[in-house]
Amino acid sequence: MHGANLDQIGRRDPEQYGRMSFTELEYHISETAAELGLHIRFFQTNHEGEFIEHLHRIEGLADGIILNPGAWTHYSYAIRDALELTGIPAIEIHLSDVDAREEWRRHSVIRELCIDRVSGQGPAGYRVALERMHEEFTS
Ligand code: DQA
Repeated sequence: MHGANLDQIGRRDPEQYGRMSFTELEYHISETAAELGLHIRFFQTNHEGEFIEHLHRIEGLADGIILNPGAWTHYSYAIRDALELTGIPAIEIHLSDVDAREEWRRHSVIRELCIDRVSGQGPAGYRVALERMHEEFTS
């Protein structure tokens, strides 16, 4: 699940987010998931309520969630509460190294609900997250 402004990555600061477009990122993620034998679905929105409602509907649709909520990560307690409701394993991911950027990006309201966190590895981080999720169901 991708949140606000992630659909614009090809136009955002390349130092932080690289030059890949969002479509290319999703393609890269699908290829990796296919290699690992994982069936994935994508969801991206710039609307916080839609992100929340998708989390409300996710039960029964997915075994796990890999989410990059963008800036919502740092302050949306509404997304935190909705994530808690899902009751399925979640992994937080960020393209950039949020801990090495502005102070406000260092705080995550979803961190303690997630089984793991991947940050600062760019698109390659999604492989790490997918492998971790795979491990969750095979170990
Ligand atoms: C981000 C980091 C957030 O701080 C930022 O607001 C984003 C993207 C990342 O993937 O590095 O929109 O989640």
